Amino acid sequence: MSESRVPRLRRFLVCEPRHFAVQYAINPWMNPDTRVDVDLAQEQWTALISAYRSHGHSIDRLEPVPGLPDMVFAANSAVVVGGRVFGSLFHAPERRPESSHYDLWFKTAGYDVYRPGSVVEGEGDLVWTGRYLLAGTGFRTTREAHREAQEFFGHPVISLTLVDPYFYHLDTALFVLDDENIVYYPEAFSPGSCEVLRRLFPRAVLATRDDALAWGLNSVSDGRHVFIAPQAEALAARLADQGYEPVPVDLSEFHKAGGGIKCCTQEIR
Ligand code: ARG
Repeated sequence: MSESRVPRLRRFLVCEPRHFAVQYAINPWMNPDTRVDVDLAQEQWTALISAYRSHGHSIDRLEPVPGLPDMVFAANSAVVVGGRVFGSLFHAPERRPESSHYDLWFKTAGYDVYRPGSVVEGEGDLVWTGRYLLAGTGFRTTREAHREAQEFFGHPVISLTLVDPYFYHLDTALFVLDDENIVYYPEAFSPGSCEVLRRLFPRAVLATRDDALAWGLNSVSDGRHVFIAPQAEALAARLADQGYEPVPVDLSEFHKAGGGIKCCTQEIR
């Protein structure tokens, strides 16, 4: 297990949490009575960006918009593979207006944005493995959107059904370590979907419910460094045994909205 893991430098799009709050409840983690410490949220988010930068990753930023408290969750606004941008259509009406701001950012940066006809929440549910897109459905993104994504990208899209409302986006139950391997929490998936993952990734790291509840599956890996919630200590230790280097980043304020490290990070490929 002492293979040396090679990081690949990434380009991430992020959005500062200046207007972050929990004002509505669209997943079981959210309670509108919860007070968010905005200063702490800013500090935690800034620490994430510093961690990315200090590991060589480049950061693009989009201006946050008042009245869109979930806009910090950049992962949800698109999925970009090979420079092609597949935009989002949010499930919750509260989040729908985010799309036009992200689309404008992409257009200004020189990209065409595909507008989907069916509900899809970007990298929250569409996870690029390097070979295909793993695609979550059950709570947010629709199967129709999976089909659209396959037509758009021409890459195989593997539909997976999520069954636990706490893990309502695929990126809360699974993340990609490198071109070969992934980590996932099997019980978040229907039995058939679980079997599909087992066949595709026989050597995957299997996480526990505790790892998932600690936001350990909402991690970002560059192939070597794994930016991971410090609450997911047990999972981080297992990844370290396999030659990965965990980089703990605490986004506890964002957990109150049902989000973590990956949710705040969109990769531009
Ligand atoms: N409050 C947001 C929502 O429910 C959190 C989004 C988290 N993002 C993610 N990629 N899982 O939509």
